[in-house]
Parts: sequence; structure tokens; C-alpha cells
Amino acid sequence: MNKIILVGNGDVGSSYSFALVAQGIGTEIGIIDLNQQKVSGDIKDLAHGLAYVAPKSIYSASYQDCSDADLVVITAGAAQITGETRLELLNRNARIMKTIVTEIVESGFQGIFLIASNPVDVLTQYVKELTGFPANKVIGSGTSLDTARLRNTIGERIKVDPRDVNIFVLGEHGDTQFPVWSHGNIGGLSIEEWLDKHPDLSRNDLDEIAKEVREAAYTIIEAKGSTHYGIAISLARITKAILNDENAVLPVSVHLTGEYGASDICISSTAVINKNGIKEIIEIPLNEEEMKKMSTSIEALKKMIV
Ligand code: 2OP
Repeated sequence: MNKIILVGNGDVGSSYSFALVAQGIGTEIGIIDLNQQKVSGDIKDLAHGLAYVAPKSIYSASYQDCSDADLVVITAGAAQITGETRLELLNRNARIMKTIVTEIVESGFQGIFLIASNPVDVLTQYVKELTGFPANKVIGSGTSLDTARLRNTIGERIKVDPRDVNIFVLGEHGDTQFPVWSHGNIGGLSIEEWLDKHPDLSRNDLDEIAKEVREAAYTIIEAKGSTHYGIAISLARITKAILNDENAVLPVSVHLTGEYGASDICISSTAVINKNGIKEIIEIPLNEEEMKKMSTSIEALKKMIV
């Protein structure tokens, strides 16, 4: 499993292919975008780094190239503008998504879809419905990015490697997301235990950090117009889990069938990811407050289903 087709070569798409090259993920990357000139420039630019990493074929692709791809990653679509919520983007991006996905399916593609365009949960659900693909083969980047943001922010604050801060952000990739403190742990300690032993960090601080994470995209967009490195590295992480058949547990947008009391909705849950896409959805027994937040998230998304 090695052939990746990327649809959408904007800031997110090109940062993603750079992450694939830099981390030696996949052996073939085909890039589809209306802006052929930018694709040809990026292909050359990326190829110039290959001598220092691993050989890879990087080329300008057509939808026909999706026919035998293992993974199609869609980052195409309009991006959020300052102050705009991800859900407000929906109508603009659903139309774009329909055109793209129809072409991909017509190519005979049978691999895995990884969706990053926003609002990612709603568009993941939309792609699942448009394609009729089984739920394990349609994955949204979901809260993989928010989880990384939370781990990094806490890690920086308490001076612990973020990879050892095991807390998931679940729910909508958007304003109703929430961290699952009840099942988080840092170096084997529950969050309660960590707080008991570290009076310099309070529950209030954690709530502040969660807010910062929830608003991170707005902050970055205000500062530089778009977010792309964080999401690109999250997409690369999910790609690696799929191509290397890792059985990695990651928080991604998946189609629920009864988990968290919801069905027929794509929203972030933790899941085991391997070469078949979603191997298993892990339903974390949330506490009452978290379950309420999950329900709020589910309701927010249900209102937006295309
Ligand atoms: C992000 O969270 C905008 O969804 C994008 O960075």
C-alpha cells in the first residue's frame, strides 16, 4: 500500500505532501488541482528534496489515477475566512466535494478516503453517502489536530513530551469539541492524580488550555490567513497508520452506528486504524458532563447534515 492521490494543492495540500516527503511516507504521490502551474512548481520543488530522504514518485495526477490508489486525501475547498465558523463553510464546500468525489468514484477507486476539507465531519458524512463506500473506508481528519494541539499545549505547560500526554479531544472538529479528561493520563497518572501531585497546575488552567485549543484555528487564521502545518502533520500521521497497517489508535471523524447514543453521523471518536481504514471504533465510557458535551456536538452536526 503506497499510492496516495492528493486532491487540493492549497496551503493544506502542499504542506501535507511536504510532510509525506519529509517523513518518508508512501512511495507515490499524485496531486490533482485546477491550478496546474502551482502543481508543476510544487512537484519540482518537492522532488528536489528526495535525494536527502527516500525516493518517491511525485506527479501531477488526473482523476483516472485514482483507479488503483490506496488512499485519496481531499483537502480541496474554500478555507475559513477570519471569524467564519467551519460550519458556515459548508454550502460552498459541499458543492466542490460532490464534483470531486463523483470523478473519483467513476475512476473505479476502491481505496480509502481521508477528508480534511471543512466542515470536516459533515463533509466526511457527505462523502460516505455520495460514494456508498463502507464506513471503514471514509475517514475525516476530525479532532486528530485538536488532540495534537491539546497535547502540545499541556506538554509545553507542564514540561512533558506531548507524546506522553495521553488525552483525546473528541466530538465536532469545531466549536463544540471537548477533551476527555476523565480518561486522560500523563505518564500513567490520571488527570486527577497529576493535579494532586502538581499544585502549580489547576483544573482551571486545564479549562483555559482547552479553550485555547478550541480557538486555535481562529487565532492562527487571524495571524496568517490559514492553518496548514498542524493539519498536514495530522493527516500524515493518519496516512502512516493506514499505509503501514499500524492498528494505531487515533481520534478521527468516523461514521457512528450507536456509539455515544448516535447513528448516521460522522464525528470524532477514537478508532483503531490500519490498512482497511477504521478497524474498530473505541467507545470511551464518558462521564456525565462529557457525555452531555458529546450530545451537544452530535446535535450541532445533525443540524448541518447536507
Ligand atoms: C484548523 O482547525 C482550520 O480546521 C482547521 O486548523
